[in-house]
Amino acid sequence: MAVRIIKSGIYSVGAIDWDRKLFDELIPLPQGTSYNSYIVEGTNKTALIDTVDPTKTQELLYNLDETGLNIDYIISNHAEQDHSGSIPAVLEKFPDAVIVTNPQCEKLLKSFFELSNAKLKVIGDGETLSLGDKTLKFIFTPWVHWPDTMVTYAIEDEILFSCDFFGSHLATSELFGPEDISRLIPSKRYYAEIMMPFRPMILNNLKKIESLEIEIIGPSHGPLILNPTEIMNLYVKWASNESSNQVVIPYVSMHGSTELMAKYLIDALIKRGIEVKPFNLSKMELGEFLIDLVDSSTLVMAAPTVLTKPHPFMAQILYLVNVLRPKLKYGAIIGSYGWGTMMEDEIKGLLNNLKINYHETLLIKGLPKEEDFKKLDNLADQILETMGN
Ligand code: FEO
Repeated sequence: MAVRIIKSGIYSVGAIDWDRKLFDELIPLPQGTSYNSYIVEGTNKTALIDTVDPTKTQELLYNLDETGLNIDYIISNHAEQDHSGSIPAVLEKFPDAVIVTNPQCEKLLKSFFELSNAKLKVIGDGETLSLGDKTLKFIFTPWVHWPDTMVTYAIEDEILFSCDFFGSHLATSELFGPEDISRLIPSKRYYAEIMMPFRPMILNNLKKIESLEIEIIGPSHGPLILNPTEIMNLYVKWASNESSNQVVIPYVSMHGSTELMAKYLIDALIKRGIEVKPFNLSKMELGEFLIDLVDSSTLVMAAPTVLTKPHPFMAQILYLVNVLRPKLKYGAIIGSYGWGTMMEDEIKGLLNNLKINYHETLLIKGLPKEEDFKKLDNLADQILETMGN
């Protein structure tokens, strides 16, 4: 990424990763990502806010050369390696620079790198750092995305450097994100994949920053945000307990019986005017499924039994659902088996983090028959009754 000026004395010096397709060897990145790093140049001192993924260290060092500035402080908002991984190289280039961070982040940085206390300045929540005509304020915002995360607010310029908070995995040549709705798809995907497990902490952290005058949000992934109120309101909506009447139906079928049940239920729900999002687990894109989990009230799991347990594709996705803790209120289990099943208990055990009210389970032997379709109609009626609750 070329060096770009955000405001007088504020530069973007990070790196775009056009080619990265997977984060943490888990999260698909269909649109790549970026590791944003910023310089705030004051009349007395200059600070670098976060660094970049170790794979992009050379791009950051090149950009720092381009600015010709000396770095006095490295602000570390978060220790995860996609933001801290180039700190050793920056320290080597600027041996007098000091890392400014919070106590939690300090501990993590010391676990990743050889760092002496002389290289670290540990600040408290709400503390400020003067760079001369510019002042940085540090606000601790734990769990967006690790316990160490904080945001840095450039007071005079009204820019919030939010690190992972409000980010999006999007590689783009645009410095600023568009104001239209298309901007929100990568943001919602990112929220679903990274932020969703931390809903109560997100609401607390939003309260901590709501009184700030914010003109621009500079996250550490994706384009800068010119409409902070919109993204903050969306985070309130996504993190609140309010859910939509949408039903998400992940399904997988081995010999077609479970698929017949899933498809019948999908149609039965549509006939009742209910919005349905089916996902064939053998073909779906993970991020699209997770996006729909953000707001949905009901999850219907449709799977065949394999050796008495749910099909491994279902078990795999439910493991992730359980750790991401979406605000689901209702659930249902349907599927087919051959000679025996213990699927109901297994699935409920896999979702032990969630407070779900389950509709009656429908597991049938072999192909669904007329009476089974009637039971699926009953299930659709039950789901309709819970809508709006
Ligand atoms: Fe972008 Fe939690 O690191």
